[in-house]
Amino acid sequence: MKHVLITGASSGIGMQLAIHYLKAGWQVTACGRDGEKLKAALGDQTEHLRFCIFDMSHRQNVLSNTARLKNIDLAIFNAGTCEYIDHPQAFDGQLFERVIHNNVIGTGYCLESILPKINKGGQLGIVSSSVTTLPLTRAEAYGASKSALDYLARTLAIDLAPQNIDVSLIRPGFVDTPLTQKNTFKMPGIISVEQAATLISKGLQQRKLEINFPRSFFYVLKALSLLPNILWRRIAINMVRQ
Ligand SMILES: NC(=O)c1ccc[n+]([C@@H]2O[C@H](COP(=O)([O-])OP(=O)(O)OC[C@H]3O[C@@H](n4cnc5c(N)ncnc54)[C@H](OP(=O)(O)O)[C@@H]3O)[C@@H](O)[C@H]2O)c1
Repeated sequence: MKHVLITGASSGIGMQLAIHYLKAGWQVTACGRDGEKLKAALGDQTEHLRFCIFDMSHRQNVLSNTARLKNIDLAIFNAGTCEYIDHPQAFDGQLFERVIHNNVIGTGYCLESILPKINKGGQLGIVSSSVTTLPLTRAEAYGASKSALDYLARTLAIDLAPQNIDVSLIRPGFVDTPLTQKNTFKMPGIISVEQAATLISKGLQQRKLEINFPRSFFYVLKALSLLPNILWRRIAINMVRQ
């Protein structure tokens, strides 16, 4: 039986991935900050479903609560948070710190503790976002944190190759989860968590270096990113003014 560890399994994409892998017969270690929330999302712990409770923004908490884990075939670092910069002229440094610390530094703590427990020939998936394709309004903190994850994943994909560990960079577009349900703007191409989990698991099964979806949305962003920055800036400013 294969063993998958999923961070952020109490909600949204991570929860759906846990459900997907349980149905597919994997041993699942579902991680989150709150045991009750994990239980409400996934049911009681069983022989095949184990909870691992930690706050990834606290190094010691991550290290001590993951110490007993072993024999992981696939780790999906999915946990993350999103906060927008609404008043860039009165830049909220604490918000910026919170998002960067959680999404980037927290991933570093997870790497420190969990990477040595991934079997040779195993896999690591890091969930970034399609926001990294282009500079998008209000995403100064979230976009910067996810861009750091892009670089991290791409570098690890090189440096973990000698250990036969494949690293996949996962960049979803909009997915209907509690994180996006807070958004008040239109979310083009939004898909369900079920669709997202299917696309992620397929991409991981194929050991893809990058998993970008939904495809049509990604290609539009990609095409726009090929424009000179000065042009994109003009388009983005016009969109903000509308
Ligand atoms: N939804 C989208 O459209 C979308 C698009 C692109 C990328 N993503 C990325 O996909 C990932 C999952 O997002 P989602 O939409 O499924 O959001 P979500 O429903 O809000 O789930 C986020 C998960 O991350 C966990 N988490 C957050 N901070 C944590 C911390 N410090 N320690 C431990 N766990 C923590 C949460 O745990 P708690 O239950 O303890 O809060 C929750 O399980 C995120 O990395 C997000 O940036 C989402």
